[in-house]
Amino acid sequence: MQHNAACSQLDQNGRLRHFLSIAGLSRELLTEIMDTADSFGSVADQAVKKVPLLRGKTVVNLFFENSTRTRTTFELAAKRLSADVLNVNISTSSASKGESLLDTIRNLQAMHVDMFVVRHASSGAAHFIARHIAPHISVINAGDGSHAHPTQAMLDMFTIRQFKGQIEGLIVVIIGDILHSRVARSQIRALTTLGAQEVRVIAPRTLLPDDIQTIGARVYEQIDYALAGADVVIGLRLQKERMHGAFLPSEHEYFSRYGLTEQRLKLAKSDVIVMHPGPINREVEIESRVVDGDRSVILKQVSNGIAIRMATMALTMSSHNQTRSQQQK
Ligand code: CP
Repeated sequence: MQHNAACSQLDQNGRLRHFLSIAGLSRELLTEIMDTADSFGSVADQAVKKVPLLRGKTVVNLFFENSTRTRTTFELAAKRLSADVLNVNISTSSASKGESLLDTIRNLQAMHVDMFVVRHASSGAAHFIARHIAPHISVINAGDGSHAHPTQAMLDMFTIRQFKGQIEGLIVVIIGDILHSRVARSQIRALTTLGAQEVRVIAPRTLLPDDIQTIGARVYEQIDYALAGADVVIGLRLQKERMHGAFLPSEHEYFSRYGLTEQRLKLAKSDVIVMHPGPINREVEIESRVVDGDRSVILKQVSNGIAIRMATMALTMSSHNQTRSQQQK
């Protein structure tokens, strides 16, 4: 599927009408997403965890790939914004009988829904839907193939900002299966846009895309050099479901060369934070002691996912509301 710029995710006033990718978004817009998420942080502490921003709106969760964190936090986020939420079970939907993606979308659109949150195994699926959707509907990309996972990248930026104060000037290391990682691509774009000093990537050559340096990452050959002086270390899962061929000699050898261990973490700054988007394979890419250790902010990332998803839903819906009111004048 195509994921070119043919479908703009911005409206005529430069606001988010869809959220499909970090690429092309300004530092100001990424900061606005984080600031908006900040304003939603306290909703989780209220006796009634709800604000009425999306009351009367219908959000459809359309997940063609499995998910634990993203699907549930989108659902919680939509409910906290008072939206009605429709979780379409793809395995029992008519997609399993051969209905095309576009026909599924057209039928749901006929039910007068307002937003699609889409995860799909094909890169470009969310852009494709956004190009064919009615103008009043927003599309949020919840992960498409190995292309992009923009809300994950933003919850990661939000978490880094929470612990480090700012992204600017930080050294961030991403370790693992970069080749198949939509998360890494979106993180690198967000980190460079927000002024990180250096984004280091380290992986076996077979798991590094050729173009990774063109989006602002610096490739390291040895993990000890990559970790030296790091402010933030992000581990990634080996995506074995996307590996069709011999990418790795063995998991044991992978862990011995690239595994994130407590011993190796001592090379980073003393206040380093450890992140992982999940799901985690303990003792495959990261030591269990690191996952559960005092430098880990992995579960904080999950909590922050709700506020960031509330922010992106509120901002895209606000763009549609403003466009509609301008048209009515
Ligand atoms: N990080 C992430 O996308 O996790 P899920 O696959 O569980 O949604």
